[in-house]
Amino acid sequence: MQLPSNTAISYNPLATITDPAPASPSSVKAGLDLKNRTYFVTGGARGLGLSLITAILEAGGSAVALDLLPEPLTEEWAAAQTLAKENGGSLSFNTLDVTSEPAVELLLPRLAQEAAEAGRPVHGLVNCAGINQKLPAIDYPVELYRKIVDINFVGSFIMAKHTAKILVAEGTPGSIVLIGSMSGIIANRGLENTAYNTSKAAVLQLARSLCQEWGQYGIRINTISPGYIITAMTQELLDVEPELYETWMRGAMLNRLGAPDDFKTAAVFLLGDGSRFMTGSDLRIDGGHCAGA
Ligand SMILES: NC(=O)c1ccc[n+]([C@@H]2O[C@H](COP(=O)([O-])OP(=O)(O)OC[C@H]3O[C@@H](n4cnc5c(N)ncnc54)[C@H](O)[C@@H]3O)[C@@H](O)[C@H]2O)c1
Repeated sequence: MQLPSNTAISYNPLATITDPAPASPSSVKAGLDLKNRTYFVTGGARGLGLSLITAILEAGGSAVALDLLPEPLTEEWAAAQTLAKENGGSLSFNTLDVTSEPAVELLLPRLAQEAAEAGRPVHGLVNCAGINQKLPAIDYPVELYRKIVDINFVGSFIMAKHTAKILVAEGTPGSIVLIGSMSGIIANRGLENTAYNTSKAAVLQLARSLCQEWGQYGIRINTISPGYIITAMTQELLDVEPELYETWMRGAMLNRLGAPDDFKTAAVFLLGDGSRFMTGSDLRIDGGHCAGA
């Protein structure tokens, strides 16, 4: 629509927009400070999840680890407990299947109440729970395909939904980080991973879709898309096919594969108020892999 040339424009967007986000942090350090905040971390018993728990603790925050496994890795967990004590945070573990909505619905509000009573209310989620299985698509059993989509994608939705319910009920502006993968954007050479890849593409679109529904509550939701990281998940693939290592290294612009620690600062950035204007975005951290042909 064309305005007549003599129309005065008096529209002031700042007068009509209410900002549900936290106040602008006073410094870069404050923007990365997670003090007195608790975060759910799924897949927190080991691998990337446990590493991101240490990141939250180092930033002064508290974490509730959730995993299908009955208990976390002993040594790493003990080190994380020490870190929690040193930094004034807390750390606990609960077994949980992220695909079971009744279980999630029952457990999360109780954990949130405990966190609030301890003066460290829940401020968000890091969803790392995931599985992979390499199989040619032509032979892929549909039940296995459904299982991978159920854990990686539907599980992300269930966790995000019930974390958001808590944040909305408590009136807390929060941050949700879903772990996607570069496999949600590209097809990995040498890996017959169709179920995994499509489940991760869905995770990226899930975050974009939820961000336009939940911004009104001050809830931000972003994804991290890692490249190859050496964890139990990739080690299982390498144990069966060691030659995959050479294939992966051909795309490694920094001449190495990733380590779980490579994602810690990015996760703290997305959880903290320093990223308060960031939602619906993806941080691809892949050592340059997707930049190559
Ligand atoms: N390792 C990589 O190269 C890589 C690359 C990109 C993305 N990722 C993603 O990072 C995340 C963490 O993977 P990782 O490499 O640390 O692997 P991992 O296997 O060490 O960790 C995955 C964790 O998820 C848990 N889990 C599986 N199903 C679950 C369920 N139904 N409910 C609750 N917990 C469940 C597992 O018990 C395990 O502790 C995954 O989402 C994975 O897809 C990994």
